[in-house]
Amino acid sequence: MQNVIAIDGPAASGKSSVARLLAGRLGWNFVNSGALYRAYAWACLKAGVPPEEESQVAEAAVSWDVTCGIEDGRSWVAVAGARLESELDAGATNAAVSLVARVPQVRALVVGQLRGFAEQGGLVMEGRDIGTVVFPGTPWKFYIDASAEVRQQRRAAQGLDDRVSERDRVDSSRKAAPLSVAEGALVIDSSEMSVEEVVDRVLGHVGGALGTPAREENV
Ligand code: CDP
Repeated sequence: MQNVIAIDGPAASGKSSVARLLAGRLGWNFVNSGALYRAYAWACLKAGVPPEEESQVAEAAVSWDVTCGIEDGRSWVAVAGARLESELDAGATNAAVSLVARVPQVRALVVGQLRGFAEQGGLVMEGRDIGTVVFPGTPWKFYIDASAEVRQQRRAAQGLDDRVSERDRVDSSRKAAPLSVAEGALVIDSSEMSVEEVVDRVLGHVGGALGTPAREENV
């Protein structure tokens, strides 16, 4: 397995921006694991399966042709061979994704796909359970948080229709792999930090271990 930096945290905490910039600085691949759950949610809606019907989702999910890969250092996802882009952030997908992601059969399919990325080079992966379930063995685990108010503002500033507190409630209370701080993870509250500051903090933590000089930790 290649080097993996796991970044978890609640909705709109800034972890995607942090993970993308971090991967760019390191020259590693960036994977947004939420995009895979979003692809399953989109496939669920397309198949006409009600996302709240757990047993129907569990039974049908294996037949949804969800694939993923790396191109130009970033992950892509496709359903039935067609890449998804704006569909992933659509209001209907936002409303369905946490319901679909709580189904253990969906999680098992996604976790298998996510682990495959570690064979393809150094990896920065962000999500909800990367440090706890997907790569519990990695020494580099981070939990990026921000106040509920800041997170709602950040999502609204992106112009997206997304009830982040409702997704957080479902993500934190589900039985399968609930959002939680992984053992040994460094918690960073990004409420009053820029993306660059958070990335510097992460690099300051892992830099020495990567063979590059550890940077000054600035928080
Ligand atoms: O960008 P944001 O954090 O708002 O969401 P995302 O990373 O695109 O994840 C969308 C949803 O997928 C989350 O609300 C979770 O329900 C689910 N998810 C998960 O269960 N486990 C992951 N590792 C990543 C996402």
